[in-house]
Amino acid sequence: MFKELMYSVNELPTPDVIVEQIIATASNPNVSAKELEKVIAQDIGLSTKVLKLVNSAYYGLPRRISKLSEAIMILGFKTVRNLALSVFTYSALKSSNKSKIDHDKLWTHFMLTAIFSESIAKYIGYIRKEEAFMAGMLHDVGKIALDILAPEYLYQLTIASEKTLNPIFRIEYDNQFESHTELGGDLLELWKLPEEFVAVARLHELPSLTPDSPYIEIGCIVHLANFYSNLILPGHSYSYGVPFLDQIVFKKLALKPSQLQALLSDLTRIYEKSLDLLKGGVEDETRV
Ligand SMILES: [Fe+2]
Ligand SMILES: [Fe+2]
Repeated sequence: MFKELMYSVNELPTPDVIVEQIIATASNPNVSAKELEKVIAQDIGLSTKVLKLVNSAYYGLPRRISKLSEAIMILGFKTVRNLALSVFTYSALKSSNKSKIDHDKLWTHFMLTAIFSESIAKYIGYIRKEEAFMAGMLHDVGKIALDILAPEYLYQLTIASEKTLNPIFRIEYDNQFESHTELGGDLLELWKLPEEFVAVARLHELPSLTPDSPYIEIGCIVHLANFYSNLILPGHSYSYGVPFLDQIVFKKLALKPSQLQALLSDLTRIYEKSLDLLKGGVEDETRV
């Protein structure tokens, strides 16, 4: 039902021209910092955001950066692309006007999961850490789709999850509801994002259902990041109850259960360092 709605209504936000240009530019290794700067400079809010991000405690730079070109050099093309997408997901969430949930809270869950995905990638030696960040940022976009297409339904789902302490994906699975994971994948397809992100959105809650997916590794990274994100900031994803950890992550990421505690300490420190990114990181951006 929601899937049909998604293709028939035009209320769903789509990445605007500047965001599309940035994604294209940042993925091209032959583009210079100057060229990328030119694209970003078209959007004042976004430029301000890049500077804010690079100066955040999360990056731990010894001095303040005030020039966009310098920010791009330090952050790297891919991080800038990720930033553009973070701003876009925030705007996409804000575009739902009948919503009954707190968008800032849900976006904090997106951002924390993105940061944790990048951190876990570094921890296990997965070199495509920027892709892990992006996959983490986009993993729950199905909730944006639900919030726009069926805000009352999403609200009731979150109430049910809070009352029964059953995570949203379990309620969806047990009742054979259309899942936020499927819808998320569909929305990313609609946005013409690479297959990798579509796959991660679909498998992030129960990666063991698709152990042979070519994207299982990054999917497990995001699953684990989502687990810690729900542990450290409970309720921000609007899913309640004990966070579920799929045992497949140990095999696919070559981790031992005994490492979970050390990882929790690392991620808690990273969470504390990224508070300025998580709280109001994009508060002055309402453009879609
Ligand atoms: Fe989810
Ligand atoms: Fe999530």
